[in-house]
Amino acid sequence: MTDVRPQDADERMAQFFDGCAAQGLMAEFDEGERAKLNGFLRRWAITPGMRVLEPGCGGGRLTAVLSEATGPTGEVVACDLSKAMIAMARERGLPPHVQIRQQPISFIDRPDGWFDRIICLNVFPHFADPAMILSHMARLLSPEGGALWINHFEGRDSLNEFHRHAGEVVSRHELPTSEAMDRLMTGAGLKVVELEDFSGSYQLKAVKA
Ligand SMILES: C[S@@+](CC[C@H](N)C(=O)[O-])C[C@H]1O[C@@H](n2cnc3c(N)ncnc32)[C@H](O)[C@@H]1O
Repeated sequence: MTDVRPQDADERMAQFFDGCAAQGLMAEFDEGERAKLNGFLRRWAITPGMRVLEPGCGGGRLTAVLSEATGPTGEVVACDLSKAMIAMARERGLPPHVQIRQQPISFIDRPDGWFDRIICLNVFPHFADPAMILSHMARLLSPEGGALWINHFEGRDSLNEFHRHAGEVVSRHELPTSEAMDRLMTGAGLKVVELEDFSGSYQLKAVKA
C-alpha cells in the first residue's frame, strides 16, 4: 500500500472489518482454532497479574480468554479500528481489568516497558505502517521477560494467498518473509527469538533487543 497514507488505509480497513462484523465473522473460535489457540496460550505463558496488550482485538473472542489468563490482578488493553468489532467486544461485558478502545494501536499510550505481553493474533499483515507500529509496541514492551507474539491459524503462504482473494482492501496484506520480519524487528529495537511457520499455524516471538 505504498500509494495510500496509513490513516486512509486504516479508515478503509475499519469499514472492511465493520462489514466482517456485520456478517458475524470471527465472532467466536471454531473447534480447530480453539485447539491451536490452546497451543498458543501455552507458549504465551501469561500468568495472573500480567499486563497484556492486544492490538486488533476484533470482536473480543481472544480478549475474553486473555482476561481469564491475567485474572483481576492483571490488565488487558484491547483495541481495534472497527467500530462494529469494538461494539461486539464490548457486548461481552468483560470484567473491569479489561479496557476496550476503538483506537489504532499507535494511539495506546502507557509508560515505557508497561506490558508483559503484546499479542497480535491475526492482525500483523493489516498494519498499514508496520515499522512505526513495531517501534511503538517495542517502547511499550517490558525489557524484563516481556514478549511480543505474532500468531496466525495458518502458515504464511496460505494466509497471504487467502488475503489475495479476500477483498480489494486486504488483497495486498501480507505476512513478510522471515528475512523481512527480522529487518523490521531489528529496526524497531526487537529481536526474533522463535519463529515457526507451518501449514497450520504461524508463531513468532520477539523480545527487546
Ligand atoms: C483479521 S481481524 C482479527 C481480529 C482478532 N484478532 C481475532 O482474531 O478475532 C484484524 C483486526 O485488526 C484490526 N486492525 C488492523 N490494523 C489495526 C491497527 N493499526 N490498530 C488497531 N486495530 C487494527 C482490524 O480492524 C481488524 O478488526
